[in-house]
Amino acid sequence: MQPIAAQLSAQGVADVAAYYSMLPTTPDPQDNRSFPQPMSDPEKARMAEDLIVFGDGHRGIPPCQACHGPVGYLKGAPPLIPQNGDYLLTQLKHFSDGSRANDINVVMRSVAKQLTDEEKTAVSEYYGAGRGPAAGTPHPAGVPAPQ
Ligand code: HEC
Repeated sequence: MQPIAAQLSAQGVADVAAYYSMLPTTPDPQDNRSFPQPMSDPEKARMAEDLIVFGDGHRGIPPCQACHGPVGYLKGAPPLIPQNGDYLLTQLKHFSDGSRANDINVVMRSVAKQLTDEEKTAVSEYYGAGRGPAAGTPHPAGVPAPQ
């Protein structure tokens, strides 16, 4: 992928991204994982659930589910269940150090900056395992819910 991506101009990257973002989401026929998967560390699972359901008012962290579903779906906030956990963790690190800065109004950078490394790992593993409040709730945009 790297040699292909390296040949794209900035305009090319923007065009390809716009094109793919408009395609309907379809399930990957080669993905035969089943969800939700167990989490070995119950403490980590609880830490993730607290952030997803309640956030942390003291630190100004809104609940993840208010934007990523199922409670609310902020336009532009992608579903996190069950994206790859390592990918999610990398994104949270990049938002918190500012190397990913495409979030309008600094929404995710301000959330991620507040999270400890342990919390970033916990929520990433939790979502990556296909867990989440009311998993199975259909996404309004028709994204298939994990079974
Ligand atoms: C106020 C709304 C809001 C809240 C609350 C919020 N997010 Fe986000 N999040 C967004 C938006 C919007 C994006 C998309 C940014 C972009 O790329 O334009 C996003 C993107 C992300 C991404 C990158 C996903 C991808 O596909 O690349 C991750 C990971 C993420 N959020 C995790 C979290 C976690 C974990 C929490 C809770 C601790 C949380 N978010 C709380 C709005 C929110």
